[in-house]
Amino acid sequence: MDGNGRWATARHLPRVAGHSRGVDAVRHAIEACGRRGVQYLTLFAFSSENWTRPQDEVSTLMRLFVNALEKEVDKLNESGVRLRVVGEMNAFDAGLQALIVDAQRRTAANDRLNLTVCASYGGRWDITQAVRALLREDPTLGAHPERIDEKLLASHLALAFAPEPDLLIRTGGERRVSNFLLWQLAYSELYFSDLLWPDFDATALDAALAWFATRERRFGRTSAQVALAG
Ligand code: FPP
Repeated sequence: MDGNGRWATARHLPRVAGHSRGVDAVRHAIEACGRRGVQYLTLFAFSSENWTRPQDEVSTLMRLFVNALEKEVDKLNESGVRLRVVGEMNAFDAGLQALIVDAQRRTAANDRLNLTVCASYGGRWDITQAVRALLREDPTLGAHPERIDEKLLASHLALAFAPEPDLLIRTGGERRVSNFLLWQLAYSELYFSDLLWPDFDATALDAALAWFATRERRFGRTSAQVALAG
């Protein structure tokens, strides 16, 4: 969800005003995905590296996060949305951690749309925590590394509950992955939009989905093999 700061700066507003509009765009994206039958929507809200931003911007983002959890969970519940937050939870203050735990518990029975907010998250963090979790669970693995395979490692990733993404959308004109879902993006289709995140609306989402529908997904096979498999 890139481009909030530039959206605000272009209007001579403080960057944090862009983040506020970014939350509105999040709401619209959730509604639009719900209506289109998307089952998993994963949002990159705050990276491991975003902690290095100016203190007032970090505080504003945390306040927006708290507000959203306090105000939006009832609506998520009514819409059948299950919320999960993935990332280094210990980095958040105790109040925010408690809100996250509560929101996850309250929405746990929903299954219309699985909404995951990645916050204090990095793909490298996730792979590292998965290796640690593996070894904590079975300390003998260190002496038998051949027992570690991709399936075992993947099952310890923080996003193990979700399928790998079909489509990654990055807004804001940059063409990079920026430490998002490094493991899971191996075969995702990558879509880059020049729109700034607050301007990314249902029409823009439909353009991304239409582009996705034109892609041939080969997963390492040849075109002829894909055609044969139907
Ligand atoms: C990137 O734009 C955006 C962020 C670092 C924050 C995204 C957060 C939200 C949309 C709000 C919080 C989310 C939830 C789910 C409550 P940028 O600041 O890097 O923009 P720039 O590249 O224009 O500077």
